[in-house]
Amino acid sequence: MSGKIVIKLGGSLITDKRTENTVNREAVDRVAEAIAEIVNLGYSVILVHGAGSFGHILAKKWSIDDGANPVISVKQREAIAQIRTNMIELCSILIKSLEEYGITCRSFPPSEWATGTGKTFEGDISIFAKGTGFVPVTFGDVVDINDSREFGILSGDDIMLRLANEIEGVSHVIFLIGDAPGIMDRPPGREGSILLERWSPSDEVDSEHNEEIDVTGGIRLKMERAGEIAQNVDDVWIIDGRSPSRILELLNSGKTVGTKIMES
Ligand code: IPE
Repeated sequence: MSGKIVIKLGGSLITDKRTENTVNREAVDRVAEAIAEIVNLGYSVILVHGAGSFGHILAKKWSIDDGANPVISVKQREAIAQIRTNMIELCSILIKSLEEYGITCRSFPPSEWATGTGKTFEGDISIFAKGTGFVPVTFGDVVDINDSREFGILSGDDIMLRLANEIEGVSHVIFLIGDAPGIMDRPPGREGSILLERWSPSDEVDSEHNEEIDVTGGIRLKMERAGEIAQNVDDVWIIDGRSPSRILELLNSGKTVGTKIMES
């Protein structure tokens, strides 16, 4: 078996999004087990993870996504250092869990290799295609910006787009979310909401975006980036990360429960 798979573990899947620096160990371990199985089948996997409560709460509090503000710059610098430390910690928790399933990983913190935010950020994506024998792991992070903003938040969803477009031979791109079986026709908690088995960027949906705690755009950004990736990659999916064996089912049978993102 071969093929390259890029997987994003959403921050709301691997952390408790409302309580600062709280990891959802059960979710992390379950996903790590499934990823180990995929690697052992012979696929090469690149992992990206989100921040959840290891990033969004502090980033929101100190308006890190708005760039440098001279009035609170000392506090902003402290918050940036803390968020970067938090993200390295969250990444090492994930890597440790994967190692327990026998998978060797290597972490690539964006603050060390990327500058700028949004899908046109700068950084050498080819570092993710170079090594063998390990799973590269990166994540959403605070990065430097080379203009008056000085810094900003680079979302893992933007990194997903660049990996999918610039790494050769990517066959599957999978976004794992933590609160729904895929894209729903209306906010997941709302009565009667149903899973959309297919979605294309030209379809309107009334999705929810929790602006209160999310500085990067929630499900909307994911959908937008997934839609762009689907222009180049056949298998782009948004799947419930609480049931990660669905990735295996997808690889084995070509289908599973979740939303397949279609070219528009
Ligand atoms: C956000 O990254 C990074 C920080 C807030 C530091 P993501 O946009 O990839 O994170 P999630 O998946 O929404 O938590």
